Amino acid sequence: MSFSFNDENSLKIEHLAKRYPHKKALLLPLLWLAQKQEGFISDEAMTRISEISQMPFMHIYSVATFYTMFKLQKKSKRVVEVCRTLSCELSGSEAIKKHLLENHSDTYEIVEVECMGACGGAPMCTLEGKYIENVTPQMLDEVLNAN
Ligand code: FES
Repeated sequence: MSFSFNDENSLKIEHLAKRYPHKKALLLPLLWLAQKQEGFISDEAMTRISEISQMPFMHIYSVATFYTMFKLQKKSKRVVEVCRTLSCELSGSEAIKKHLLENHSDTYEIVEVECMGACGGAPMCTLEGKYIENVTPQMLDEVLNAN
């Protein structure tokens, strides 16, 4: 089975390609768009990204597996990410993770990740990639039970 970007994403890629000095610089946006389109990054998508960016498949794979925000398998549950890096840990991320595991792991996959670059909003979580800052257990209950 092959992968192709849909029309909307193809237009975005065309637009982005004009902004970068060479095709290799498109790698991260291409991975994002592939994940957004399919919910994860398949081998077929990485093959297509390899063709577009003119880089070897293994380079695409190494980048996709380095960053925790890229998913290489389709998830059966929706994903809540909890940052475990210093600012978030000092702000209570361990208690947030414990609360999530005890109360929401039946309907959500709880994943620990490294700094998401929003330390000012610590403790940080994401729900399907959307940032939730200064989270509290009560706030998570409201958000997750409403979704
Ligand atoms: S340490 Fe959690 S977002 Fe930076």
